[in-house]
Amino acid sequence: MNRTRLVVRLVAMLAVAGASPAQAQATGKLKIGLMLPSTGTYAALGNAITNGFKQYVAESGGKLGGREVEYFVVDDESDPAKATENVDKLVKRDQVDVLVGTVHSGVALAMAKVARETNTLMIDPNAGADELTGLLCAPNFFRTSFSNWQPGYAMGEYVGRKHKSAVTLTWKYAAGQQMVDGFKEAFEKAGGKVIKELTLPFPNVEFQPFLTEIAAIKPEAVYVFFAGGGAAKFVKDYAAAGLKNSIPLYGPGFVTDGTLEAMGDAGQGLVTALHYADGLDNAKDKAFRAGYMKSYQSPPDVYAVQGYDAAQLLGAGLAAVKGDASRKDDLIKALEAAKIESPRGPFSLSRAHNPVQDFYLRKADGRENKMVDTVVKGLADPARGCKM
Ligand code: PHB
Repeated sequence: MNRTRLVVRLVAMLAVAGASPAQAQATGKLKIGLMLPSTGTYAALGNAITNGFKQYVAESGGKLGGREVEYFVVDDESDPAKATENVDKLVKRDQVDVLVGTVHSGVALAMAKVARETNTLMIDPNAGADELTGLLCAPNFFRTSFSNWQPGYAMGEYVGRKHKSAVTLTWKYAAGQQMVDGFKEAFEKAGGKVIKELTLPFPNVEFQPFLTEIAAIKPEAVYVFFAGGGAAKFVKDYAAAGLKNSIPLYGPGFVTDGTLEAMGDAGQGLVTALHYADGLDNAKDKAFRAGYMKSYQSPPDVYAVQGYDAAQLLGAGLAAVKGDASRKDDLIKALEAAKIESPRGPFSLSRAHNPVQDFYLRKADGRENKMVDTVVKGLADPARGCKM
């Protein structure tokens, strides 16, 4: 074949393959919308997720599925009232290919609504709202974190082996309510009784009246969900009220992840359950931690892991469609089938797109939530109401 005929043949082959707009798009930058808090009580959580996500992308040469990545960033302030406007900026104005976010369950519910209505792929690297992989489960929605039920249930199993009565206290919104519900389900199944459920509005930190009430009730145990700055303040107030040595305090590991330094002595010895711990014995975690320390000069926490895994999951899906995010059905199939080699240990996704994962018992020691034991292996959210 001479040169001219070869060129003609190649051009013809390309025409048959059909250089569609989607393929043209598959060669440009992949637009990722990061909707996370960078201000407010969950600011540190949002930053850790961003760091983890970017670490994986950097390890992959700045690309996912062979495509260079471009970030569009919105600070959602963990404010549900601004959520729809914020997500619209990413979907309608910036026209991102993928939405990644967020931390706060109420904000994530609003975000997922827009994602559903516009058929935009959404990967949730934290917010645990049970509905997102339950009643509201959807083909375009994936989670690399947990459902609120999961850590609550794991902690309830453990506390149920040790105590018969408990008082719960949390912020009154989806995450707090659902982490208490999961706790109560397992705790009462084990023969315990939740004798009082206390709440205060998010993100209030006036804990004094609640501490007075807990001291008067004298339960065998206290279970709380707070995170970020609010968690640090609560644990310090609990110790200052003299309760730390009289009524054992438990919670999902969010209470002590990324907050131990701020808690000082008050946080030492706290026992929590979570799908991540310091001192896990796996090579992936060791490499991840070394990389994170090098990039950010601080140790990673569960939020960094969840962000890293969001990028890993997206990368696995995009690799299967050679970076062409417009091949939605194939992309979704690949995401569903992905096996994630996470720093937390390997996990796969349930049919509702939520991680099926181990929950660890951890004990706060210095700045670490040290791995003590596995509380529940391969815990799957019940995905109540999911019809997928
Ligand atoms: C949530 O709102 O779903 C949430 C927030 C912070 C956490 C965990 C869950 O640490």
